[in-house]
Amino acid sequence: MHDEMALEIFPAATVRLVNLSWGNYLQKAFQHLKSLGKLQRKNGTEALIQKFKDARPSSFHHSVRVARFARSTGRAFGFDDARLKQLSYTAVLHDVGKMFVPERVLSLPRKPTRAELFLLHLHPSFGALLASYFNLPPELRVRTEHHHERWDGRGYPHKLGGEDIPFMARIVQVADTYDAMVSDPSRPYREPRTHDEAVRELHREEGKQFDPRVIEAFLDSFPSGLGKKVREQ
Ligand SMILES: [Fe+2]
Repeated sequence: MHDEMALEIFPAATVRLVNLSWGNYLQKAFQHLKSLGKLQRKNGTEALIQKFKDARPSSFHHSVRVARFARSTGRAFGFDDARLKQLSYTAVLHDVGKMFVPERVLSLPRKPTRAELFLLHLHPSFGALLASYFNLPPELRVRTEHHHERWDGRGYPHKLGGEDIPFMARIVQVADTYDAMVSDPSRPYREPRTHDEAVRELHREEGKQFDPRVIEAFLDSFPSGLGKKVREQ
């Protein structure tokens, strides 16, 4: 069964969903979060973090780990405290749009179907929408929206490439991918990789998925040049 629903994205995208119950689910979730966002506009960032933590604890804990890696990378770039704080918020909230993706789709014991993948790929746009509802700073909304773009311009949702992708989003991408490879329990069908395997995979994607400068800084941030050692093998 097919259903079309208008979502309030850019400014009125129509999303074709393959399952009517998902349409109903999303419509209810949007209404609920929009009303919550209206109540929380004064301190929207902290309120949204709390909602995310309650609604999707496993995605939230992954995001906290991503924030730790991202901050270390930011330090390697010489970020001051104010920029490190912004980077932390960017990392903690990068996947906040997963609040609109049903839990059962987030924790599938197998690879997602095409329809499930379609829904998963909407999460950066959902995140941007939530950032608007909760009155977050515009730059935070933009970084959330673009954290799945690729350096080579083949990512989503807008196929931005190179330096058109916000810098902090590029840092979060690398930290996010590394943590997803070594410790993200939301993909039980995939064996976790060792640190060395994950670093090799990051190098393979250097200049394709990732900004090479960010990979360099990310690896520099590990103690005792752990990342460098893998590269030299
Ligand atoms: Fe994401």
